[in-house]
Amino acid sequence: MITFDAAKDILKKYGQEHILAYYDELNENERAELLSQIEMTDFSVLENLSEEKNALSKRGKFEPLGAVTIEDIAENREKYYSAGSEAIKEGKVAAVLLAGGQGTRLGFDKPKGMFNIGVSKELYIFECLMNNLMKIVKSTGSYVPLYIMTSEKNHHDTVNFFEEKNYFGYDSSYIKFFIQDMAPSVDFNGKIYMESKSDISISPNGNGGWFSSIVRAGLLNDIKKKGIEWINVFAVDNVLQQIADPCFIGAVINSGSQSGSKVVSKVSPEERVGVLCLEDGKPSIVEYYEMTEEMRTLVTENGQLAYKYGVILNYLFRVDRLEDIIAEKMPVHVVEKKIPYMDNNGGFVIPEKNNGYKFETLVLDMVHLQESCLPYEVERSKEFAPVKNAEGVDSVESARKLLIQNGIEL
Ligand code: UTP
Repeated sequence: MITFDAAKDILKKYGQEHILAYYDELNENERAELLSQIEMTDFSVLENLSEEKNALSKRGKFEPLGAVTIEDIAENREKYYSAGSEAIKEGKVAAVLLAGGQGTRLGFDKPKGMFNIGVSKELYIFECLMNNLMKIVKSTGSYVPLYIMTSEKNHHDTVNFFEEKNYFGYDSSYIKFFIQDMAPSVDFNGKIYMESKSDISISPNGNGGWFSSIVRAGLLNDIKKKGIEWINVFAVDNVLQQIADPCFIGAVINSGSQSGSKVVSKVSPEERVGVLCLEDGKPSIVEYYEMTEEMRTLVTENGQLAYKYGVILNYLFRVDRLEDIIAEKMPVHVVEKKIPYMDNNGGFVIPEKNNGYKFETLVLDMVHLQESCLPYEVERSKEFAPVKNAEGVDSVESARKLLIQNGIEL
């Protein structure tokens, strides 16, 4: 472990010496704990605080990108389904559930997947997802290996919950968990928050590190041994999420694309959703806040929005491409969040408003590292019911309505 002096030098370099302010008051174990946290923390993410201001100007030239539309898919359904289900049956497809987030907007103190969205009966978010995946097992006759990403903060709760619920009927030998990396959280002046006198405030470092975390957890061997060629990555919080969808997989395979993304048509130019497009000729996602008014409202000859297809965090990647790009540096996003912290009197504060920044890499940035990405349009009312907030837009209430619309008993 590093010495006190070495820790001090690192902190000095990043203007974070306050982290050692209580060192003299700590006992042996607490001192060791703090020094080890300093050693393990990637302070270089702090450099993005100034770089972020220029991030936009670093983007390339955007152009719209069309999609395989719902109509195209209806016409080719059988062809796509058979190619996709064959890949599943041959064991070439796995799924990765991104469940390392903290779900702060929902304000639920357990992993988001443990949220009970049921009304007159129990129906957990994890359960909705496992039920959806089970449909594929039934229709193809094959289990899809599922890798679940957690974070240090929610790993035990998540694993215990799956065990307690008997994996919602899934064959547990096909499920593996892995833990993502963490990054420090700072106040608006760039000073790292403390959670206690001996604990730095750290949080999951975004969903972009999922593949490197899989590799670090030693699971790439498992993936290769099983002969998995495609990975379907999806978010925990869309309760209508269709996982390992054979038609989607088949369409991507048949198209010869290196990757694919499920997309929905935007409801309005102002909808706050990232749009799949081209950036310097390569697939890319432009965030809603990065789009100019002109891009948002641009229409094609047939009167449709040019930047029309919003992403819903359901991607298909090729394993060999992921291995090729693993060393590529992903952009670090600086995101405003509510960060619990220790105040100057040693009291623990849970803020009601955003009080600082977290540093995250995002899976959507992996799309730009692909040579090609097939946008695959799905019906929003059938496949997109995000649970982000406790109330209002993308909330428990709106997701419940959509579940009921889709015939799911609550
Ligand atoms: P969100 O961007 O909605 O973040 O995650 P969040 O942390 O869950 O929620 P808020 O913003 O605090 O309310 C989108 C998906 O990415 C996963 C989440 O679990 C969700 O499936 N995620 C996010 C991770 O796996 N790790 C992270 O570090 C962040």
